[in-house]
Amino acid sequence: MDLTQFSGGMAQGEVIEISGAVFSEKGNPLPGTVVELWQANAYGRYHHSGDDSPEPRDPHFQGFGAVSADKQGAYRFRTVLPGLYPGRTRHLHFRLVRDGRPALVTQMYFPGENGNARDGLFNWLGSEEAQQAATARLMVASDRSKLRFDFVMKA
Ligand SMILES: [Fe+2]
Repeated sequence: MDLTQFSGGMAQGEVIEISGAVFSEKGNPLPGTVVELWQANAYGRYHHSGDDSPEPRDPHFQGFGAVSADKQGAYRFRTVLPGLYPGRTRHLHFRLVRDGRPALVTQMYFPGENGNARDGLFNWLGSEEAQQAATARLMVASDRSKLRFDFVMKA
C-alpha cells in the first residue's frame, strides 16, 4: 500500500518502505490479518481534525492505510518518514485486526533515533528485548529507507 501519493500529488518528505510479516506466538504466519498504519506527516502533524499542531497539513499524504497480510503473513507499506512532534520520538502507529476484531495495537520505533532513549512510551517497554522488538530493523546497513518490522500476536 502506498501512502505517498494522494489527491493528485506526491507527499512531502523522505520516502520509506516498511515490510514484514505477522506471526503467531508459535511462529506461524497469520495470513489475512489486516495491518493498519497511521502516522504523522513529514512535518509531524497528523491528518486528523483533532490534531491542532501549528505544523502544516500535507494534502498529498494519505496518513492512514490498511493492508491484508498475504499467504505468508507478509505486508508492505510505502510511506514517508514521520516528522517529530513535541514530546515523542519518531514512531508509527499500527493496529492489527483479525476476524474483524482488533487484536493488537502497537507502535513502531526507528533504529538509531536519539529521541528513543528519552521517550516515555519507549522506556515504558522496560527491557532491552522489548524495546528491540518494537524497533524496526534496517534491511540495508545505514539506509533508513528500507525497514523490516514483524508482528507477533496471539492467534
Ligand atoms: Fe503518534
